[in-house]
Amino acid sequence: MQKKQLMRTLLVCFSVFALLMACKHEIPVYNPPVDNGGGSGGSGGGGTVTCSPDTVYFQQQILPIIVSNCAKSGCHDASSHVEGLNLTTYSGIMRIVSPGNPGNSKLYRVIVTSNNGDRMPPPPDPRMPQEQVDLIYKWIQQGAKNNACTGGCDTAVFTYSGAVKPIITSQCQGCHSGAAPGGGIDLSTYNGVKAVANNGKLWGAVHKDPGYVAMPPAGNGLSDCQLTQIRKWLDNGSPNN
Ligand code: HEC
Repeated sequence: MQKKQLMRTLLVCFSVFALLMACKHEIPVYNPPVDNGGGSGGSGGGGTVTCSPDTVYFQQQILPIIVSNCAKSGCHDASSHVEGLNLTTYSGIMRIVSPGNPGNSKLYRVIVTSNNGDRMPPPPDPRMPQEQVDLIYKWIQQGAKNNACTGGCDTAVFTYSGAVKPIITSQCQGCHSGAAPGGGIDLSTYNGVKAVANNGKLWGAVHKDPGYVAMPPAGNGLSDCQLTQIRKWLDNGSPNN
């Protein structure tokens, strides 16, 4: 009986703490739920590190692009996990990463290989943009930590080119482009994004409103700051600015 009460008190304390943390930071720091398989947790956990331009952060930069490019349904998502690989979690991704050694990491090798038979994502999907390849290289070189940071997003910036497009490029375009885009929705052009801005589906999906399919379908989802940027852009008439 007493034990039960203690558990309850602990639970309440934890919830209050979690709430406080959520209010304090504009961008909630993601704490991986059951995902400590990698051992070295890096600076995850604490999570109060301010984003530095010299460091690549798994939670903010790497996970979204891997989900977008590799965790499509039928590929390496939680339900399909082709070749036993679920690339929606840190521990899943670390099975093909050799920390500090990009050349020895299958993750890096399959995205840069010139052999189309081995290449990921497989043709006819396009190659990952070079900028994303470079980020993955640098992250592995820096030790492939499960790290996270706060900051690095400004709600005062809400243009298409300055805010919306970069979010789409890193978090959505891997699935929403190419020959068979997810849901038949191609987000690789302004017109494609504008169409879902106009019909309400863009906001419904990223804000995870009832009645919409939540987007992105795996990973952390957009931060509060990124949601604010998209909301302001929509309220401004979703211009091509
Ligand atoms: C891992 C692949 C993947 C990623 C990443 C992804 N999508 Fe999707 N998206 C899909 C698929 C597949 C569907 C169709 C889902 C369905 O109809 O059940 C879809 C559907 C949608 C829809 C229609 C939702 C509805 O309720 O009709 C919108 C809008 C959308 N995505 C926007 C986005 C945006 C914006 C992002 C990035 C923030 C994103 N998606 C990231 C695969 C993805």
